[in-house]
Amino acid sequence: MDGNGRWARERGLPRTEGHREGALAVQRICAACGEQGVDFLTLFAFSSENWSRPQTEVKALMALLEEFLVGQREELMQRNIRLRAIGRIADLPASCQEQLAQSIELTRHNSGLTLVLALSYGGREEIVDATRRLMQKAASGQCSPAELNNALFAQHLDTADLPDPDLLIRSSGELRLSNFLLWQLSYTEFYISPVLWPDFEESHLREAIAAYSQRQRRFGAVPEG
Ligand code: IPE
Ligand code: MG
Repeated sequence: MDGNGRWARERGLPRTEGHREGALAVQRICAACGEQGVDFLTLFAFSSENWSRPQTEVKALMALLEEFLVGQREELMQRNIRLRAIGRIADLPASCQEQLAQSIELTRHNSGLTLVLALSYGGREEIVDATRRLMQKAASGQCSPAELNNALFAQHLDTADLPDPDLLIRSSGELRLSNFLLWQLSYTEFYISPVLWPDFEESHLREAIAAYSQRQRRFGAVPEG
């Protein structure tokens, strides 16, 4: 979800106002995904690297996250949305962790859209954490190096029970992955939108899905026919 800062700067507003407007886009796009029958939506809300932003901005983002978690509970329930999180959740302020855990627990039996928030998330960090878990298991004799394969590795990632994404939408025209889901995006289709995240509307989502539906996915094999 990139472009909040630029959106604010274009209007002579503080960056935090861009984040606030970005949170409204989150509500819009979650509702639209639910209505369009999307099963999983993962939002890159806060990266491992975002901790290096000015403390005031980090604080504002954490406050906004907490406000979103509390304020959107009813909406999540009404829309049958199940909330999940990936990333180093233990890095978040205690109050955020608490509200996050409450929302996850409350929505765990919902059967519509699964909304995954990537928080204090980095793809490399996730791979390192998975490797650490595997090494610990190997050290205690619960698994052996010979057993290791893609499936076993994937089971130790934060996304163990989530499917790999079909489509990655990058807003604000940036052409980089920025440490997002490095393992999981191996065969994901990319869609780059020039639209700044706070301006992202349901129509943009529809355009992205329409573009995706034109792609021919071969997963490294020879095309059919
Ligand atoms: C949102 O956009 C990303 C978050 C960390 C929430 P940015 O804050 O990166 O916006 P730009 O790139 O400065 O426009
Ligand atoms: Mg940015």
